[in-house]
Amino acid sequence: MKKYLVIGKPIEHSLSPKLHNYWIKKNNINALYEKKLINEAEIKSIISNVKEKKIDGINVTVPFKKSVIPFLDQLSLEAEESQSVNTIYLQNEKVIGHNTDISGFELAIKHCKYNVNDKAAFILGAGGVVPSIIIALKKMGVSKIFLSNRTKEKAKNLKNFFHDIEILEWGNLPKANMVINATSVGLNQSDEIKLDFSKIGKNNFFYDVIYNQKETNFLKKAKNLGNRIENGKMMFIYQAHQAFTIWHKLMPELNDEIISLLDQ
Ligand code: ATR
Repeated sequence: MKKYLVIGKPIEHSLSPKLHNYWIKKNNINALYEKKLINEAEIKSIISNVKEKKIDGINVTVPFKKSVIPFLDQLSLEAEESQSVNTIYLQNEKVIGHNTDISGFELAIKHCKYNVNDKAAFILGAGGVVPSIIIALKKMGVSKIFLSNRTKEKAKNLKNFFHDIEILEWGNLPKANMVINATSVGLNQSDEIKLDFSKIGKNNFFYDVIYNQKETNFLKKAKNLGNRIENGKMMFIYQAHQAFTIWHKLMPELNDEIISLLDQ
């Protein structure tokens, strides 16, 4: 039986096992996908299991998307560009690190038929998923990216890689067509980003990367202010869809049943 894992800390909230095991069953594949809570010190030995063919594939989530990199033999172009790995597999005896968050975000935005071209985007947060979002937005032709993070130093580090983004002080809100919450604020239902989004105006598009809450307080507020909202569910599904396709060499079905499977 083939074995797949998602590693992270925390990991309890991950819906990856539910989705992957659904597709595994649908496609009559002899495999099991599990979640594993790990510490940073365990990364090396877990990845060596891929080389030894004891584990067939790994998904990586917060906070290890960058810290797995030194233990991999090779990075895909996407992983190299973002310095972020969410999918690991063995190819020609080499452990490869790939990034499916970039295309996951791009496909999710296209799925909801929002045209990013020539729009100004404002990203909140500077964590592991943000480089992928920046790359995807640039690829889709965004005109400007503003970014703000509670800890300014982390935002500045991102600017070293992406020179054309503009860093704003936490609390400063720009004129933007699209506002993306890439912080972890909202993972718990009572979490709230204490910013006054009314300054951004209405009829804009608010996107939350969080997928385990249907409507975070960030999205609720945005909706009440007259904006269009979308949660991170489709991004999550598309990144998993691509990881599955790489590992099992077949493209699983993506339909309403799968989309509603993840509604809790
Ligand atoms: P990591 O930073 O380890 O990659 P992450 O979950 O990807 O983890 O990122 C968490 C993001 O949410 C960070 O941008 C974090 O801001 P800091 O860099 O200042 O920690 C942001 N975040 C978490 N709690 C927050 C809060 N209460 N208010 C504002 N931003 C918060």
